This record gives sequence, C-alpha cells and structure tokens, in this order.
Amino acid sequence: MEIRPMRMKDLIAVRDLELLCIREYFEKIMENRWDDLPQEWIDKLGASNPRSFRHHVEGGLSMVAEEDGEAVGFIFAQMLHHAYNVENMTWVENMGVHPYYRRTGIGYRLLEACIDESQRQGAAVVHSAIQPDNIPSLMMHRKIGFFTDTREVALLDLSDRKVSAPK
Ligand SMILES: CC(C)(COP(=O)(O)OP(=O)(O)OC[C@H]1O[C@@H](n2cnc3c(N)ncnc32)[C@H](O)[C@@H]1OP(=O)(O)O)[C@@H](O)C(=O)NCCC(=O)NCCS
Repeated sequence: MEIRPMRMKDLIAVRDLELLCIREYFEKIMENRWDDLPQEWIDKLGASNPRSFRHHVEGGLSMVAEEDGEAVGFIFAQMLHHAYNVENMTWVENMGVHPYYRRTGIGYRLLEACIDESQRQGAAVVHSAIQPDNIPSLMMHRKIGFFTDTREVALLDLSDRKVSAPK
C-alpha cells in the first residue's frame, strides 16, 4: 500500500471512488434513489469534480492510497489563508476508502500524510469537514488527535505535533 500525492492522471479513478462514497452516504440519508438524481447534479458533487480537481492536486495536500496500481483511497485538501484568523490553515474537503479496504488503517494514513504535508507547507491548524453521525470518520479524526464537538468541523492544533517518521 502506497500513500502518495494525488496526480492529474488519478482523475477518473478518484472520481469513481469519491462518487461511490458519496452515493453510499446519500443512500443512507436520502429517500431519493441515486439513479433518480439528474446527471447534471451528480457532476457537481465532490472535490473530484472537473472544476476543482486540478486546484486540489496542485496544492500538494491531496493524497491517494494505491494498491497494485489501483486507487483505493483518497483525501482532498487545500491550504486556506487568513481563515479563522490563521495565516495558513489546511481545509480537508473530503476523504474516502473503498469499502473492501476499510478498517485496515488506510484512512488514518491518508489523513496523517495530508497533515504531515500541511506542516511542511506551514499550516498552523487543520480543519476537516465531518458529519457528527458518521462514526467511523469521527473516531478516525479523534484517534489522530482532532478536537471535535457538535460542530461539523474538526480541529487539530499542530503546534505541539511532531511530523511522523517516513514509512
Ligand atoms: C471514514 C473512513 C475514511 C475511514 O477509513 P478507514 O481506512 O476505514 O479507517 P482506518 O482503518 O484508518 O481506521 C482508523 C481509526 O478510525 C476509527 N474507525 C474506522 N472505522 C471505524 C468503524 N467502522 N467503527 C468505529 N471506528 C472506526 C478507529 O478508531 C480506527 O482505528 P482502529 O482500527 O485502530 O480502531 C471510511 O470509513 C470511509 O471511507 N467512509 C465512507 C466515506 C466517509 O465517510 N468519508 C469521511 C468524510 S469526512
């Protein structure tokens, strides 16, 4: 399993994987069937939509988990400047792991790689979009050290964090 920065050539594989994860979530919370949603609407979903993919790749904070040449996990993040009174803040937009590969440490490693790169790029803080009813996501963020409350944003203060050793 390799965790590496996302590249433009990952677009199709990561788009498929992100939509799979979004579809899974929608089917849990919405009465509409996914197949009834207009394609035009689906095309705008996710950070992998063609309008924002390049931006997320070029910042260097988005990562892919690759197994035997296949993308099995992703994280989309970008650096925000002067948000929440912080000069450099990483914003984690979305992440996901293929259902077959879950609970094997990939999500944790993706988040960790993104945080490590954030620190290298000078981020003081990481904010991550979470849904409080998403227990796997919530537990993963807490395990890595994020502070969470009822807000749908999780916070990790990097001031005392050591960058983990290369794997
Ligand atoms: C959330 C998600 C990315 C986690 O990825 P993962 O690779 O399965 O997670 P990991 O194996 O790295 O787990 C790390 C920790 O998270 C927690 N965790 C993960 N899955 C869990 C579950 N089903 N129940 C409880 N805790 C869970 C555990 O603390 C785990 O550590 P442990 O295995 O030592 O107990 C994955 O479940 C996923 O893709 N879900 C669908 C998309 C999604 O919800 N994305 C998050 C949007 S913020």
